[in-house]
Amino acid sequence: MTQPSQPGSSNYAVELNGCTKEFATPGGGSYFAVRDIDLKVEPGRFVSIVGPTGSGKSTILNMAAGLLNPSSGTVHSFSEPVHGVNRRASYMFQQDALLPWKSVIDNVSLGLTMAGVSKAEAYDESRRWLEKVGLKNFADRYPHQLSGGMRKRTAVAQAWIVNPDILLMDEPFSALDVQTRQIMENELLQLWQESDKAVVFITHDLDEAIALSDEVVILGAGPGSTVVGSYEIDIPRPRDLLDIRDDPKFVELHREIWGRLKVEVSKTYESAREEEESDAA
Ligand SMILES: Nc1ncnc2c1ncn2[C@@H]1O[C@H](COP(=O)(O)OP(=O)(O)O)[C@@H](O)[C@H]1O
Ligand SMILES: [Mg+2]
Repeated sequence: MTQPSQPGSSNYAVELNGCTKEFATPGGGSYFAVRDIDLKVEPGRFVSIVGPTGSGKSTILNMAAGLLNPSSGTVHSFSEPVHGVNRRASYMFQQDALLPWKSVIDNVSLGLTMAGVSKAEAYDESRRWLEKVGLKNFADRYPHQLSGGMRKRTAVAQAWIVNPDILLMDEPFSALDVQTRQIMENELLQLWQESDKAVVFITHDLDEAIALSDEVVILGAGPGSTVVGSYEIDIPRPRDLLDIRDDPKFVELHREIWGRLKVEVSKTYESAREEEESDAA
């Protein structure tokens, strides 16, 4: 008989076991954002989490990042329990977190200088990264002087320069126009393929999730969302994201996963409508 493995006994980059998150509500009650989440991400894997609005995607990422403690359950990263900020991970938010009063190169250098690297060395490394993300000539600009795509490139360089083992990305490209977004997705995949990093990528866009990932995890409707499905994406790599939506394998996977996701999206839509109707009554 095989024993279930102990939490933290395997070397997963991210390992959530039975994680539930309950938030206190203003009226003195409580709200279960997610319930019994099991999520295991091996080093070097690209895993996306897809779910309707409010299904707890950001809550899960925040638990993996150590920014939020689960109410019950455990979080491990490379066999270590995560208590406080997960130092093996870099975080990329939907709204980029660039400091407006710092130039591009100073924003990118930040992680290194805060880790005690000398400014000269941090600048050398930042220049290498700015070149990699196509911003060689923009080192001295300030964030407000950049386009949306350029700000994202700066944020990518900022997250990667510290060489984390894990990238936690919360709908990083959702605010971009469709073309810029596809370019950024392609660039992200290229960077990732040259690396051995684990990526946990949150999106509400199933196309994006399938195109990028090795595995797509589907969250159910809230409250108390939990994982309702997990799909292996065996489309060969390297992938060209500009053409991938025509790939028969993509079409087939999309049909199958959407069949499951659709149910959860409809539930979320129905309960939002009921709430609106009872508010109106
Ligand atoms: N700090 C908090 N306090 C109370 N409720 C919260 C808090 N953070 C998130 N929630 C609630 O938990 C649910 C899940 O939120 P979130 O993880 O942001 O979902 P998603 O990222 O999938 O849209 C939502 O209903 C949200 O309102
Ligand atoms: Mg969110």
